[in-house]
Amino acid sequence: MAELTRTAAEDRGAWKSKIGFILAASGSAIGLGNIVFFASNAYKFGGGAFYLPYFIALFVLGIPVMIIEFSLGTMTGKSFPVAMRQLVGKKGEYAGWWTISCALFITMYYITILGWALTMLVGAFGGLLTDPAIAPFAGMDSPSDGPNATVYFFGMIATWAPMLSVAAIWAMTILILWRGTKTIEAAVRIFVPLMWLFMVVLIVRGLTLNGGVDGMLYLFTPNMDGIMDVNVWQGAFAQMFFSLSLGLGTMTAYASYLPKDADQINNSMVVSFLNCGFEFIAGVAIFSMLFAFAIVPSGGTLSLSFFVIPQGIAEFPFWIKGFGVFFFLLLVIAGLTSAVSLVEGIASPLIDKLGISRTKALALVMFPGIIGSLAFALPQVIDPAISSGGTLGFSLLDMLDHWAFSYSLLIGGLIECVMIGWVLGADKLRTFVNEHSKFTLGKWFNVQIKFVIPIILSLVIGGTLWQDLSGGLYQSDTDFGSFGWLPAAIPVVWIISTLVMSAVLTNRPAHDHDPHNVSNPA
Ligand code: PHE
Repeated sequence: MAELTRTAAEDRGAWKSKIGFILAASGSAIGLGNIVFFASNAYKFGGGAFYLPYFIALFVLGIPVMIIEFSLGTMTGKSFPVAMRQLVGKKGEYAGWWTISCALFITMYYITILGWALTMLVGAFGGLLTDPAIAPFAGMDSPSDGPNATVYFFGMIATWAPMLSVAAIWAMTILILWRGTKTIEAAVRIFVPLMWLFMVVLIVRGLTLNGGVDGMLYLFTPNMDGIMDVNVWQGAFAQMFFSLSLGLGTMTAYASYLPKDADQINNSMVVSFLNCGFEFIAGVAIFSMLFAFAIVPSGGTLSLSFFVIPQGIAEFPFWIKGFGVFFFLLLVIAGLTSAVSLVEGIASPLIDKLGISRTKALALVMFPGIIGSLAFALPQVIDPAISSGGTLGFSLLDMLDHWAFSYSLLIGGLIECVMIGWVLGADKLRTFVNEHSKFTLGKWFNVQIKFVIPIILSLVIGGTLWQDLSGGLYQSDTDFGSFGWLPAAIPVVWIISTLVMSAVLTNRPAHDHDPHNVSNPA
């Protein structure tokens, strides 16, 4: 696919080469999800027990939904909400903007976590892995005299430093997005190979540690104990969507810069396998360290990567600082290429719909985005008695993550499959995909997107909702004191603001008079 076939695409941006697109899409997929969230989910759900649901999620949901999201981009040459408008009419656009609004919330806290990783990276150059720890909170249990990353982390988030890092990450993200596909492609050509290299260094180090191989075996030994536990399935499905960057419109934006005849079955397979391959390697590296140092992680999602791994690295026989720096640099780079895609996935539909310049669209995303990211980095300590979730920002982040992570991506995927499968017609999509692909999708694909995926996703979403409603409102582990209203406010703010944003944007008149934009051709 050397040359562009669509001239209009030239102003929107276009990937210079297929490899540029693959690097960008895999850079989007490979991120904090593959390192931080994957390891903690695999640990929580019992190592080998996680794999069956995980593989089923990959083949039954992941690859098919990626084929849909990529194809929406090349069918229409537009990003998600505008593509949905063209293909399924106004209700499609509503759903599209809702998804994009959810992406904005996820971007906010994704960048805060990246900001924390950047602050830890700076710490790794300094005393993070070598200086004796001093407990920041009176009530914190057992601050050790050795290096203690947990103590360091909670001390760090209770300072103003992460706010600076958050601003720095936003600045880097915007810089990479400045000239659209041109600058994105230049950045991923450096960053994506670099993160594979760092990961390879870490896995070699992990496996050559005494006892490291046991960690790998634990991860790979099938374990059927958890197979009847719905939480394992929910965890695997949500993880797969997040890891593959699905359900938020991101992949459609990236694919809209491809020529119409791009082979989307091939692209989806390549990107999914690169992503899951990386996730596997990351899992091995992390579990080998866990086993080598017999560390038992406790606490929330971030604990494995932010406290446990640094703790393991601090016990390496040599070159502690070097490996510490490698690890946090890896997190920052992997996360940055994903944050870039999240922001592009929001900015690009604004350009398509409103006809505004890229600079204006980036500013529209950046202002609310940065305010949110800074709010999650707020250092005010609200609960000194606990060793996790002590700051206001951390608790807010934890609660928003609970709602946004468990629901938005899966709901996005569900609506997409139902609308494309039933309103546009699964056959139309399938015919389009098959025209440009070496392999062809059989009729089973229609069944997949009309029935199988919607049923599975409805069950998972319903199950999660049932748990949330019957188990009382999600609280994180914090005693909120005078902020007691927050656990209820977070989901309400999230739901109302995403619905309002979606209604406002859907009802704005589109800037161009492309006949497809106003009526439903289906
Ligand atoms: N896939 C990214 C990760 O694993 C996160 C992401 C989700 C990015 C959705 C874009 C869209 O970290």
